[in-house]
Amino acid sequence: MGYFIRVLDNFHFADPAEEYDVGNFVCYNDALEHAKKYVREDIIGMWVHGQDINSLFSYYTTFGADPIIISEEPSQREWGFSAWDYAEALVEDLKNYLIEGTDIQTIYQTAILFAGDRHAMKNQTLPDSHIPYVVHLSNVCMEILVADRHTENFNLKLAVQTALLHDVLEDTETTTLELEECFGGLVTYSVQALTKDKDLSKEKRMEDSLRRIKECPKEVWAVKLADRITNMQKPPNSWGPDKISQYHGEAKLILSELREGNQYLANRLEKKIKDYSRYCCT
Ligand code: NI
Repeated sequence: MGYFIRVLDNFHFADPAEEYDVGNFVCYNDALEHAKKYVREDIIGMWVHGQDINSLFSYYTTFGADPIIISEEPSQREWGFSAWDYAEALVEDLKNYLIEGTDIQTIYQTAILFAGDRHAMKNQTLPDSHIPYVVHLSNVCMEILVADRHTENFNLKLAVQTALLHDVLEDTETTTLELEECFGGLVTYSVQALTKDKDLSKEKRMEDSLRRIKECPKEVWAVKLADRITNMQKPPNSWGPDKISQYHGEAKLILSELREGNQYLANRLEKKIKDYSRYCCT
């Protein structure tokens, strides 16, 4: 007993040849999360690639994917998830980022309290230190706030929330559904891209995350640059030479992949990478 997803295609409405089934989910929430991902990828992809916000919903209902969740139990076939309703809510969510609304100070407070609490529950600290992890999050956000003054068309609300929440899925028990309830679909999508996929081998994780970051708005690229700038400090004592040079190399990869995302932060990271060479033996 479980669920699967049937992906219909809005453009080929009612054409069974264009439908396909995916997944085999034991739990409904996993199926729901998967179904939402289809819609999020479509909506945000269309937006990032230049679709006007006011016609985004009708564009989605014409061309997007329309997943439905189906129970394997024949008596309760279609299960209540409407991709169109979800898409409509996502578009509203996006509009909230583009128009006046909550001030940035309130947005900052809400996100840092949430993230600070979640990381504190795990007793997470900075490496080799007793300093609470929230200091790292605040440092990343500080880079973002300064970068905002040097960047045109920068969506500060998205960037601040993504900066403060960027490790909450990777390091705490927070689920994507919960994050979405509190901060909306766009922030969740952005934090997901910054979260390494633990099912992949360690060597593949960064490459995979960078690929997903590059499908996101430029603000998410900026958060990744800011994260690495913040982390390019004296390495923890527990790190050996191999780990240090691997970290150095990874920073160069981040810079080369995401440079276009934010020139100001890219320049800062470039300088940090140069300074970090002093810790490398080679
Ligand atoms: Ni981080």
